[in-house]
Amino acid sequence: MTGSDKTQGLAGRRLLLCVGGGIAAYKALELVRRLRDAGAQVQVAMTAGAQQFVTPLSFQALSGHPTRTSLWDSAAEQAMGHIELARWADQVIVAPATADLMARLAHGLADDLVTTLCLATTAPVMIAPAMNHRMWEHPATQGNLATLRGRGVRVVGPNDGPLAEGESGPGRLAEPGEIVAALANHADDAPSVPQDLAGLKVVVSAGPTYEDLDPVRYLGNRSSGKMGFAVAASAAKRGAAVTLVAGPVHLPTPAGVTRVDVRSAAQMHQAVFAALPADVYIGAAAVADYTPRVPAADKIKKSSESLALDLVRTPDILAEVAAQTQALKLVVGFAAETNNVAEYARKKLEAKRLDMIVANRVGIADGGFESDRNAMTAYWKEGERSFASAPKTQLADELIDLIVERLNA
Ligand code: C5P
Repeated sequence: MTGSDKTQGLAGRRLLLCVGGGIAAYKALELVRRLRDAGAQVQVAMTAGAQQFVTPLSFQALSGHPTRTSLWDSAAEQAMGHIELARWADQVIVAPATADLMARLAHGLADDLVTTLCLATTAPVMIAPAMNHRMWEHPATQGNLATLRGRGVRVVGPNDGPLAEGESGPGRLAEPGEIVAALANHADDAPSVPQDLAGLKVVVSAGPTYEDLDPVRYLGNRSSGKMGFAVAASAAKRGAAVTLVAGPVHLPTPAGVTRVDVRSAAQMHQAVFAALPADVYIGAAAVADYTPRVPAADKIKKSSESLALDLVRTPDILAEVAAQTQALKLVVGFAAETNNVAEYARKKLEAKRLDMIVANRVGIADGGFESDRNAMTAYWKEGERSFASAPKTQLADELIDLIVERLNA
């Protein structure tokens, strides 16, 4: 089997997979299979902890190479010394990266085979963290993460959701498919992307919200989430620690982004504030302005000719973030307008006390909600910049350029 278009960059690549000691190690087996399907050569090194969860033999069968487990294995060293192996790799992927392994990597330890390989290699390193959510959120781990990112280490995941211990939160290993996609994305751009957001935390909201009317119906909107996801991906590529609060959309999590899925405006409000403090907030979500005062417990019956819904205003997340006493460096809003775009956008910039607003016209042929392309104009107090029609991924890169400029202004 050969790789699809999306994984083409991996054909012929020499990947060193370092497996850490967490329950998610079993998913690394699937990762090896997928990487090989994409045409990559894979060699595997395991920590002692990893071998408590999965056997070296399983990796050997899947990778087609002997699995490396120790610095002190003279037979393996004779076949290929660890320094040679570190040089062989043109990409290192650490999956799962446990809290302990991240700490050891951040501090440059070389107390076992895996950390020694990571220290000895000059190849780009990507980590896929997986751990209990409290360990992930601990300032020690977040500090180590920032150190690693600052050094150019790329990060994929962790995802939000159920964890092995019956708890739920950010800490799930990114799915093998996501890790493969992240590696393919960075197959040739690893060193060239400027890390001009390194050390900064960026929170992005994206997608629509669904406000439940009853157990089967909701009020929603046509936002696809594509722009917000592209902005989150772009910020992560530039070195930011990104939390993406996503309404109900069908989009893969961008590489290196921590994703929190929500449904309603109230949940989005809660998740955004839980993700603060941050340096930059980008509100790209199409948040419902109204929600039912009380959602019906049972399905609403069609008993009369007309139906009036009793709706109340939702909190304006963006305005509340902008009004935070603990000020962010930059708060950016989006405005989707059908007419008088500039005028309405400037009004919102002022009314919500934003640093920047990005306006686009919806309801036009080439652009808007569901399209992969868009054209838009950013306004800030002293200026504006127009972005000509382009794919949303390119617009996101250009918008991040502007955000970096405004941060440095
Ligand atoms: O006022 P309007 O909804 O047009 O403003 C759009 C901007 O405000 C977007 O950035 C959107 O994410 C944000 N917004 C919000 N909370 C709301 C409504 C809008 O954060 N309840």
